[in-house]
Amino acid sequence: YVGGPTSAVISAKCSEITVTVVDKDAERIAAWNSDNLPVYEPGLDSLVKKQRTKNLLFSTDIKSAVDRAQMIILAVNTPSIAADTTLGSESPRGLQTDLRAVKQCAQMIAEVSLESKIVVGKSTVPCGTSRMVQEILDKNARGGVEFTVLSNPEFLSEGSAIQDLLFPDRVIIGGSAQDANSQWAQSELKWIYQHWVPEHKILTMDRWSSELAKLSSNAMLAQRVSSINSISAICEIVGADITQVAAGCGADSRVGSMFLRASLGFGGSCFHKDIASLVWLCQSLGLPEIAEYWRQVLAINGLQTKRFVSRILDTFASSPKGICGKRVACLGFSYKEGTGDTRNTPAADVCRELIRYGAHLSIFDPKVSEHHILEKLDTGADSVQICEDPYSAISESDAVIVLTAWAEFREIDWKRVLKSMNRPAFVFDGQ
Ligand code: UDX
Repeated sequence: YVGGPTSAVISAKCSEITVTVVDKDAERIAAWNSDNLPVYEPGLDSLVKKQRTKNLLFSTDIKSAVDRAQMIILAVNTPSIAADTTLGSESPRGLQTDLRAVKQCAQMIAEVSLESKIVVGKSTVPCGTSRMVQEILDKNARGGVEFTVLSNPEFLSEGSAIQDLLFPDRVIIGGSAQDANSQWAQSELKWIYQHWVPEHKILTMDRWSSELAKLSSNAMLAQRVSSINSISAICEIVGADITQVAAGCGADSRVGSMFLRASLGFGGSCFHKDIASLVWLCQSLGLPEIAEYWRQVLAINGLQTKRFVSRILDTFASSPKGICGKRVACLGFSYKEGTGDTRNTPAADVCRELIRYGAHLSIFDPKVSEHHILEKLDTGADSVQICEDPYSAISESDAVIVLTAWAEFREIDWKRVLKSMNRPAFVFDGQ
């Protein structure tokens, strides 16, 4: 995900650099070279199409691109080993990141490189990965070839990736202060960013600190979401309004107002994985209490979807068959608004549970395809219907559930909606 937007921005800002994006997946590269890019991101389409005619190339010829490059940015996929860490799995396996792609890339770079290079880690990785990549490169390098590995974590957020890349709060470049080569490599990467990022926003530090800063940033953001979600459980019992509680807390400038929106919980590719990595790190460092502290952030996240589903089931409990056979309109499916990404989306957890209880779902999401939704739910079309717009999803339903905070759901004409729904009609807003 990170590779495309990052490369497009670097090529746009640094006309003297040629950026070649390589991937072993030929279909993906073909898509990057076509009219339909493989990733939806506001502003990305026009930027890539413009840069493709200049200094941005997409290719499957990995070896020759690697051999020609002076600097290589690693932005490969690093999924969690267990597919789902929503419930804060007890098993250490659920906490580990699959680094096979990173290792294979390091091995390949060492094998094909005839000249020394800087290798920059941008994938979301556990702490210590830069050192591991450095070791693989050193061990497999050809005679006379030297590699310098830097950590340069990516902080872009999906849906605002291009803006985040163009106007970052900070850029972190991790290297080794004792090593002259590393210092030189840090200054080379810094030079690239200085084309558009003010110097005071570019922070250089050691690799461990850089890797830990990335994990900690995401863990602290996720912790805020779990914190406000934990308070929402209290609100629902006592009748307080979580939006007002959040406004009251966020108005304190020491707390700040961002990431205090109560929701179905966080999803996406980073938060689960980074907290899981942090828990794993704490465990391996012999810090069980600290591991437990962060594990609770995941546990509260899983609890939020469970509470939501319970509330829906309880509402239908007085019907003869409960929710079984009822039609539930699901608005949104992506893990957040502004993206078609469904990785760790809480919407899938909610939908799966409702299907398990026999509900019929009609789902609408402005950016997620029918194929992706059905694949994610691992179900045939029997109990699930994918709709083209919110109104057809809602028509003849018994309940509407809002699963993603897409702005267009705020514009829904509820008077019109109510006319088309069965009675009694319910709305559950998960956002
Ligand atoms: C995140 C980090 O923000 C980014 O810096 C990092 O590089 C990658 O991970 P992203 O996952 O794209 O980015 O989305 P983000 O906007 O941070 O939202 C994460 C999740 O938290 C979403 O599911 C979102 O809906 C949820 N969220 C966010 C809330 O539930 N409430 C909030 O107040 C904010």
